[in-house]
Amino acid sequence: MLLCPPGVYRAQDDTTMLARTATESGYARDHDVLDMCTGSGALALAAWKAGATSVTAVDVSWRSVAATWLNCRVRRAPVTVHQGDLFAPVAGRRFGLILTNPPYVPAPATVPPRHAMGRCWDAGLDGRLLLNRICDAAGAHLTDDGVMLMVHSAVCGAEQTLERLERAGMSGEVVERGRLPFGPVMRARAQLLAERGLIRPGDCIEELVVIEARRAR
Ligand SMILES: C[S@@+](CC[C@H](N)C(=O)[O-])C[C@H]1O[C@@H](n2cnc3c(N)ncnc32)[C@H](O)[C@@H]1O
Repeated sequence: MLLCPPGVYRAQDDTTMLARTATESGYARDHDVLDMCTGSGALALAAWKAGATSVTAVDVSWRSVAATWLNCRVRRAPVTVHQGDLFAPVAGRRFGLILTNPPYVPAPATVPPRHAMGRCWDAGLDGRLLLNRICDAAGAHLTDDGVMLMVHSAVCGAEQTLERLERAGMSGEVVERGRLPFGPVMRARAQLLAERGLIRPGDCIEELVVIEARRAR
Protein backbone atom coordinates (compact mmCIF):
# COMPACT_ATOMS: atom_id res chain seq x y z
CA MET A 1 0.00 0.00 0.00
CA LEU A 2 1.48 3.33 -1.05
CA LEU A 3 1.46 6.37 1.20
CA CYS A 4 -0.99 8.78 -0.35
CA PRO A 5 -1.54 11.99 1.66
CA PRO A 6 -4.39 14.39 0.87
CA GLY A 7 -3.87 16.10 -2.48
CA VAL A 8 -1.93 13.16 -3.97
CA TYR A 9 -3.56 10.97 -6.64
CA ARG A 10 -4.32 7.51 -5.30
CA ALA A 11 -3.40 4.86 -7.87
CA GLN A 12 -6.55 3.90 -9.79
CA ASP A 13 -7.63 1.79 -12.77
CA ASP A 14 -5.67 3.97 -15.21
CA THR A 15 -2.52 3.52 -13.11
CA THR A 16 -3.02 -0.24 -12.95
CA MET A 17 -3.70 -0.52 -16.68
CA LEU A 18 -0.55 1.40 -17.59
CA ALA A 19 1.59 -0.47 -15.04
CA ARG A 20 0.36 -3.80 -16.47
CA THR A 21 1.05 -2.77 -20.06
CA ALA A 22 4.49 -1.50 -19.12
CA THR A 23 5.38 -4.67 -17.22
CA GLU A 24 4.07 -7.01 -19.91
CA SER A 25 5.84 -5.09 -22.68
CA GLY A 26 9.23 -5.65 -21.05
CA TYR A 27 10.27 -2.14 -22.17
CA ALA A 28 11.44 -1.05 -18.72
CA ARG A 29 14.07 -3.77 -18.37
CA ASP A 30 17.63 -2.42 -18.73
CA HIS A 31 16.39 1.03 -19.73
CA ASP A 32 16.36 4.48 -18.17
CA VAL A 33 12.71 5.16 -17.36
CA LEU A 34 10.90 8.46 -16.82
CA ASP A 35 7.60 8.47 -14.91
CA MET A 36 6.03 11.78 -15.96
CA CYS A 37 3.27 13.03 -13.61
CA THR A 38 4.20 10.49 -10.96
CA GLY A 39 1.58 11.13 -8.22
CA SER A 40 2.36 8.65 -5.46
CA GLY A 41 5.16 7.02 -7.50
CA ALA A 42 3.19 3.87 -8.38
CA LEU A 43 4.46 3.71 -11.97
CA ALA A 44 8.02 4.62 -11.00
CA LEU A 45 7.99 1.68 -8.58
CA ALA A 46 6.48 -0.63 -11.19
CA ALA A 47 9.29 0.34 -13.58
CA TRP A 48 11.91 -0.31 -10.93
CA LYS A 49 10.41 -3.75 -10.15
CA ALA A 50 10.37 -4.49 -13.90
CA GLY A 51 14.16 -4.13 -14.05
CA ALA A 52 14.78 -0.54 -15.13
CA THR A 53 18.41 0.62 -15.10
CA SER A 54 17.35 3.92 -13.56
CA VAL A 55 14.02 5.57 -12.77
CA THR A 56 13.33 9.31 -12.71
CA ALA A 57 9.97 10.68 -11.57
CA VAL A 58 8.52 14.17 -12.10
CA ASP A 59 5.48 15.92 -10.66
CA VAL A 60 4.44 19.55 -10.41
CA SER A 61 3.00 18.98 -6.93
CA TRP A 62 5.40 19.11 -3.98
CA ARG A 63 3.10 16.79 -2.04
CA SER A 64 3.36 14.19 -4.79
CA VAL A 65 7.13 14.61 -4.94
CA ALA A 66 7.33 14.04 -1.17
CA ALA A 67 5.00 11.02 -1.30
CA THR A 68 6.93 9.45 -4.19
CA TRP A 69 10.27 10.05 -2.48
CA LEU A 70 9.00 8.39 0.70
CA ASN A 71 7.25 5.50 -1.06
CA CYS A 72 10.42 4.72 -3.00
CA ARG A 73 12.69 5.21 -0.02
CA VAL A 74 10.83 2.72 2.21
CA ARG A 75 10.98 0.15 -0.60
CA ARG A 76 14.68 0.86 -1.19
CA ALA A 77 13.94 1.76 -4.81
CA PRO A 78 16.55 4.33 -5.95
CA VAL A 79 14.14 6.59 -7.82
CA THR A 80 15.21 10.21 -8.47
CA VAL A 81 12.28 12.55 -7.93
CA HIS A 82 12.01 16.08 -9.35
CA GLN A 83 9.43 18.81 -8.84
CA GLY A 84 8.56 20.78 -11.94
CA ASP A 85 6.40 21.34 -14.98
CA LEU A 86 6.43 18.32 -17.31
CA PHE A 87 9.83 17.88 -18.98
CA ALA A 88 11.46 21.04 -17.55
CA PRO A 89 13.31 19.16 -14.77
CA VAL A 90 14.76 16.64 -17.28
CA ALA A 91 15.77 19.13 -20.00
CA GLY A 92 18.36 17.61 -22.33
CA ARG A 93 17.86 14.05 -21.05
CA ARG A 94 16.62 11.06 -23.05
CA PHE A 95 14.93 7.89 -21.79
CA GLY A 96 14.31 4.41 -23.15
CA LEU A 97 10.81 4.41 -21.69
CA ILE A 98 8.51 7.26 -20.71
CA LEU A 99 5.43 6.28 -18.69
CA THR A 100 2.73 8.87 -18.22
CA ASN A 101 -0.72 9.04 -16.72
CA PRO A 102 -1.30 12.80 -16.94
CA PRO A 103 -4.42 14.79 -16.01
CA TYR A 104 -6.98 14.26 -18.79
CA VAL A 105 -10.46 15.03 -17.46
CA PRO A 106 -12.27 17.86 -19.30
CA ALA A 107 -12.68 20.68 -16.81
CA PRO A 108 -15.07 23.60 -16.31
CA ALA A 109 -12.23 26.09 -17.04
CA THR A 110 -9.34 26.43 -19.50
CA VAL A 111 -6.72 27.39 -16.95
CA PRO A 112 -4.92 24.69 -14.96
CA PRO A 113 -6.29 24.54 -11.39
CA ARG A 114 -4.16 25.71 -8.49
CA HIS A 115 -5.54 23.37 -5.82
CA ALA A 116 -3.80 20.04 -5.38
CA MET A 117 -6.57 17.53 -6.20
CA GLY A 118 -7.80 19.44 -9.27
CA ARG A 119 -4.26 19.37 -10.66
CA CYS A 120 -4.45 15.55 -10.60
CA TRP A 121 -7.16 15.35 -13.25
CA ASP A 122 -8.31 18.76 -14.62
CA ALA A 123 -6.95 19.32 -18.12
CA GLY A 124 -8.74 22.23 -19.78
CA LEU A 125 -12.04 22.31 -21.63
CA ASP A 126 -11.36 19.25 -23.80
CA GLY A 127 -9.06 17.35 -21.43
CA ARG A 128 -6.08 17.75 -23.76
CA LEU A 129 -4.11 20.53 -22.05
CA LEU A 130 -1.37 18.22 -20.77
CA LEU A 131 -1.80 15.46 -23.37
CA ASN A 132 -0.98 17.84 -26.22
CA ARG A 133 2.06 19.27 -24.47
CA ILE A 134 3.37 15.77 -23.75
CA CYS A 135 2.80 14.65 -27.36
CA ASP A 136 4.70 17.72 -28.61
CA ALA A 137 7.67 17.34 -26.27
CA ALA A 138 8.13 13.60 -25.72
CA GLY A 139 10.15 12.87 -28.87
CA ALA A 140 13.00 15.09 -27.69
CA HIS A 141 13.26 12.96 -24.54
CA LEU A 142 13.27 9.50 -26.12
CA THR A 143 16.34 7.57 -27.21
CA ASP A 144 16.39 6.40 -30.85
CA ASP A 145 14.60 3.16 -29.95
CA GLY A 146 12.72 4.67 -27.00
CA VAL A 147 9.01 4.20 -26.33
CA MET A 148 6.38 6.27 -24.56
CA LEU A 149 3.36 4.58 -22.99
CA MET A 150 0.57 7.01 -22.15
CA VAL A 151 -2.87 6.31 -20.69
CA HIS A 152 -5.93 8.53 -21.00
CA SER A 153 -9.68 8.47 -21.42
CA ALA A 154 -11.11 8.01 -24.91
CA VAL A 155 -13.32 11.00 -24.02
CA CYS A 156 -10.36 13.23 -24.93
CA GLY A 157 -9.89 11.42 -28.24
CA ALA A 158 -7.41 8.64 -28.96
CA GLU A 159 -7.38 9.72 -32.63
CA GLN A 160 -6.47 13.26 -31.61
CA THR A 161 -3.52 11.92 -29.64
CA LEU A 162 -2.33 9.86 -32.61
CA GLU A 163 -2.63 12.88 -34.92
CA ARG A 164 -0.86 15.15 -32.47
CA LEU A 165 1.99 12.63 -32.13
CA GLU A 166 2.29 12.40 -35.91
CA ARG A 167 2.54 16.19 -36.21
CA ALA A 168 5.32 16.06 -33.61
CA GLY A 169 7.29 13.51 -35.66
CA MET A 170 6.18 10.45 -33.70
CA SER A 171 4.17 7.39 -34.61
CA GLY A 172 1.65 5.93 -32.20
CA GLU A 173 -0.91 3.20 -31.82
CA VAL A 174 -3.49 2.15 -29.26
CA VAL A 175 -2.13 -1.01 -27.62
CA GLU A 176 -4.66 -1.48 -24.83
CA ARG A 177 -8.30 -0.58 -24.22
CA GLY A 178 -10.42 -1.03 -21.10
CA ARG A 179 -13.99 -0.06 -20.23
CA LEU A 180 -15.00 0.89 -16.70
CA PRO A 181 -17.78 2.77 -14.89
CA PHE A 182 -17.31 6.52 -14.44
CA GLY A 183 -15.43 7.40 -11.24
CA PRO A 184 -16.63 10.23 -8.94
CA VAL A 185 -15.07 13.05 -11.02
CA MET A 186 -16.51 11.84 -14.33
CA ARG A 187 -19.89 11.26 -12.66
CA ALA A 188 -19.90 14.80 -11.29
CA ARG A 189 -19.01 16.20 -14.75
CA ALA A 190 -21.29 13.96 -16.84
CA GLN A 191 -23.82 16.70 -17.59
CA LEU A 192 -21.08 19.18 -18.54
CA LEU A 193 -19.40 16.61 -20.80
CA ALA A 194 -22.72 15.77 -22.47
CA GLU A 195 -23.43 19.47 -23.06
CA ARG A 196 -20.04 19.77 -24.76
CA GLY A 197 -20.75 16.73 -26.91
CA LEU A 198 -17.85 14.76 -25.38
CA ILE A 199 -20.16 11.96 -24.18
CA ARG A 200 -23.76 10.97 -24.92
CA PRO A 201 -26.42 11.93 -22.34
CA GLY A 202 -26.78 9.03 -19.90
CA ASP A 203 -23.33 7.57 -20.61
CA CYS A 204 -21.76 6.16 -17.46
CA ILE A 205 -19.03 3.93 -18.91
CA GLU A 206 -15.63 5.29 -19.84
CA GLU A 207 -13.06 3.75 -22.15
CA LEU A 208 -9.39 4.06 -21.22
CA VAL A 209 -6.71 3.70 -23.87
CA VAL A 210 -2.99 3.06 -23.60
CA ILE A 211 -1.05 4.59 -26.46
CA GLU A 212 2.42 3.44 -27.43
CA ALA A 213 4.49 6.03 -29.28
CA ARG A 214 7.96 6.15 -30.85
CA ARG A 215 9.95 8.64 -32.81
CA ALA A 216 9.06 8.19 -36.47
CA ARG A 217 11.97 6.86 -38.56
C1 LIG B 1 -3.75 11.31 -12.94
S1 LIG B 1 -2.49 11.71 -11.79
C2 LIG B 1 -1.41 10.30 -12.09
C3 LIG B 1 -0.54 9.91 -10.92
C4 LIG B 1 0.23 8.60 -11.09
N1 LIG B 1 1.11 8.63 -12.23
C5 LIG B 1 -0.69 7.42 -11.20
O1 LIG B 1 -0.83 6.88 -12.32
O2 LIG B 1 -1.27 7.00 -10.19
C6 LIG B 1 -1.68 13.05 -12.63
C7 LIG B 1 -0.49 13.67 -11.90
O3 LIG B 1 0.02 14.73 -12.76
C8 LIG B 1 0.53 15.77 -11.94
N2 LIG B 1 0.65 16.98 -12.78
C9 LIG B 1 -0.33 17.85 -13.13
N3 LIG B 1 0.15 18.83 -13.92
C10 LIG B 1 1.49 18.57 -14.07
C11 LIG B 1 2.54 19.24 -14.75
N4 LIG B 1 2.32 20.35 -15.46
N5 LIG B 1 3.80 18.72 -14.68
C12 LIG B 1 4.03 17.58 -13.95
N6 LIG B 1 3.07 16.92 -13.27
C13 LIG B 1 1.82 17.39 -13.33
C14 LIG B 1 -0.46 15.84 -10.80
O4 LIG B 1 0.09 16.49 -9.68
C15 LIG B 1 -0.76 14.35 -10.57
O5 LIG B 1 0.10 13.81 -9.60
